[in-house]
Amino acid sequence: MKKINLMRLVALCSMSLVGVLLVAGVAMAAGADLADTDCVKCHDREPADIEALGAKHKTEISCQDCHIGHPPKVENNIPQCSMCHEGEAHFELAGCTGCHNPHKPLEVVLKGELKAPCLTCHDSQNAQLEANPSKHTALACNFCHADRHGVIPPCVTCHEPHSAEMTQADCGTCHQAHMPAVVTYGAETPNIKCAACHETAYNQLAATPFKHKDVACVECHADKHKTVPQCTDCHGVPHAEGIHRKFPTCGACHSIAHDLNK
Ligand code: HEC
Ligand code: HEC
Ligand code: HEC
Ligand code: HEC
Ligand code: HEC
Ligand code: HEC
Ligand code: HEC
Ligand code: HEC
Ligand code: HEC
Ligand code: HEC
Ligand code: HEC
Ligand code: HEC
Repeated sequence: MKKINLMRLVALCSMSLVGVLLVAGVAMAAGADLADTDCVKCHDREPADIEALGAKHKTEISCQDCHIGHPPKVENNIPQCSMCHEGEAHFELAGCTGCHNPHKPLEVVLKGELKAPCLTCHDSQNAQLEANPSKHTALACNFCHADRHGVIPPCVTCHEPHSAEMTQADCGTCHQAHMPAVVTYGAETPNIKCAACHETAYNQLAATPFKHKDVACVECHADKHKTVPQCTDCHGVPHAEGIHRKFPTCGACHSIAHDLNK
């Protein structure tokens, strides 16, 4: 991230001040004498804001680095942000003061539906949203990350869990916020999580007398939702060639994986 060169800034400011003083001569002396400590005599809010929340606009610069001169001598003493911030995509945005109050620069206000401004700093999240289209892709970033910068909402503020035993802590084991329709899960996922939507399979497996009872859903349907294994992935070719030639599917004798009818 490119930082502005403060020493260069100070040098520029004092050079221009010297320039003005030389041209205006004695008449400018009173204006030039206005000190930062004088501002509060007539302005309440801005010095208080800078004091409380000025961030680096408090610690690295002062009122008059931005407000050069004062009315009526200087007609417009409101600075452009580009005086000091340039050279990054973020600094090409329109309407800086719509989001930033210069006296409280990090109290960012997020209004309207925003996406493009966020991408000046966060492009990977959007790349993931675009590469994996879902209904989240069409939403503005601040539809979820609302009001204040950096807020992360729990999924359950907008969605009901799939079952009563599920909580917010479970969502991330199967979903990612910026690609929610791509469901993946780890080997530790318990069968009960799948039961929320697959009651029949869950009940069948729980009731079967065969050894698949002790095999986890996710051991067979591994890693990615809707993966269906071949029996031979785990068992190879278990019987004589002739039997398999005559009965090409295992299910002809073993029914279904969830309840082997051996
Ligand atoms: C003696 C009182 C007084 C002092 C001291 C004073 N100001 Fe002001 N300031 C005013 C008044 C009155 C106005 C409104 C002028 C106008 O609208 O023409 C004003 C206007 C401004 C404006 C707004 C200009 C605009 O275009 O809206 C800024 C910025 C400003 N002052 C900054 C400062 C800063 C910075 C200091 C300290 C270095 C300071 N003032 C010191 C009285 C003061
Ligand atoms: C980083 C630059 C910066 C610094 C530092 C800064 N200001 Fe400002 N100030 C601005 C800008 C930009 C505006 C115009 C804001 C807008 O248009 O919303 C402004 C507006 C003002 C106004 C006019 C407000 C109005 O409602 O018209 C006053 C008065 C003022 N500043 C005083 C101060 C004082 C006093 C300080 C120091 C305690 C200070 N500012 C520090 C950038 C700065
Ligand atoms: C006179 C120079 C100057 C002007 C004008 C100026 N800034 Fe800054 N600003 C700085 C400096 C110096 C820093 C600290 C170094 C940095 O982060 O680049 C800073 C930092 C910031 C920060 C980060 C604050 C922090 O504590 O991390 C924000 C946000 C910001 N400026 C926004 C603005 C906006 C918006 C404007 C226009 C309304 C503006 N600045 C005008 C000099 C300026
Ligand atoms: C849509 C809202 C929005 C707009 C418009 C916007 N900013 Fe920002 N800006 C932010 C957010 C959010 C941050 C991150 C704040 C943080 O880190 O807490 C930020 C951070 C900054 C920073 C500090 C980080 C850095 O990269 O140095 C500066 C400086 C800054 N903005 C300047 C500007 C300037 C200048 C403009 C106008 C050209 C502008 N901003 C327009 C939202 C905005
Ligand atoms: C000027 C750069 C900048 C802009 C613009 C910006 N951010 Fe950030 N954002 C940051 C930085 C820096 C962090 C802190 C990253 C960290 O802590 O690793 C951050 C963090 C976040 C976080 C995560 C907070 C956490 O706890 O992990 C979210 C969410 C976020 N930003 C959303 C947004 C959204 C939405 C927008 C648009 C409205 C936006 N940001 C605009 C710089 C920016
Ligand atoms: C601020 C509200 C909000 C939050 C927070 C939120 N979502 Fe969504 N989500 C939505 C909306 C709106 C839709 C689209 C609903 C519709 O059109 O039926 C959606 C749709 C979805 C879909 C369906 C996607 C598709 O394309 O079919 C999934 C899955 C989803 N969300 C999961 C999550 C998960 C997991 C989280 C937490 C990581 C989460 N959501 C956080 C609002 C939210
Ligand atoms: C449907 C709601 C939703 C939308 C829309 C959304 N996010 Fe997020 N975002 C989240 C949630 C929830 C998390 C927390 C993810 C986690 O805990 O794994 C998150 C995390 C983040 C983070 C923190 C770092 C990370 O990747 O975990 C950033 C930065 C972020 N989002 C930026 C964005 C940006 C930029 C956009 C728009 C392009 C956006 N988000 C759109 C819900 C959303
Ligand atoms: C065990 C894995 C798993 C967990 C844990 C999980 N989900 Fe899902 N979720 C899915 C699957 C699978 C789908 C359906 C995908 C499909 O239809 O192809 C889905 C679909 C969704 C949808 C789309 C609408 C719907 O109901 O079909 C939303 C919204 C959603 N999940 C939110 C959540 C939230 C919120 C949590 C946390 C409370 C969560 N999910 C936890 C696997 C899971
Ligand atoms: C939110 C509900 C939901 C959850 C939770 C869920 N699924 Fe599904 N699952 C579905 C839906 C919807 C389908 C598609 C059904 C259809 O096409 O008839 C499906 C289909 C399947 C299929 C069949 C694929 C095919 O091609 O026939 C398998 C296997 C599967 N899920 C396994 C699992 C496993 C394992 C878990 C737990 C890790 C799980 N599901 C969790 C909703 C869910
Ligand atoms: C992910 C690996 C996996 C897949 C896929 C799989 N099995 Fe198994 N199967 C096992 C394990 C583990 C056992 C238990 C072995 C033991 O304890 O000796 C088992 C046991 C069996 C048994 C013996 C049952 C008993 O109670 O004695 C049969 C028959 C069987 N599998 C048939 C199948 C058929 C048919 C399919 C396909 C529909 C299939 N398996 C798919 C892992 C798998
Ligand atoms: C031993 C491996 C194995 C285990 C354990 C297993 N499955 Fe299956 N499952 C399969 C196979 C193989 C199929 C394809 C149909 C068949 O040949 O039986 C299947 C089919 C499915 C289907 C689609 C057809 C249907 O019955 O609806 C779903 C959904 C499903 N399984 C979910 C689950 C869930 C949920 C669990 C855990 C409760 C689970 N499976 C445990 C191997 C397994
Ligand atoms: C013609 C019927 C038939 C077909 C087709 C068949 N099996 Fe079997 N399988 C059996 C019988 C009967 C047994 C029980 C043998 C025993 O108990 O000694 C058995 C036993 C098994 C066992 C348990 C072996 C053990 O040592 O406990 C596995 C594993 C198995 N079959 C897997 C498969 C797979 C995988 C397929 C498909 C590739 C398949 N079978 C196709 C009839 C069949």
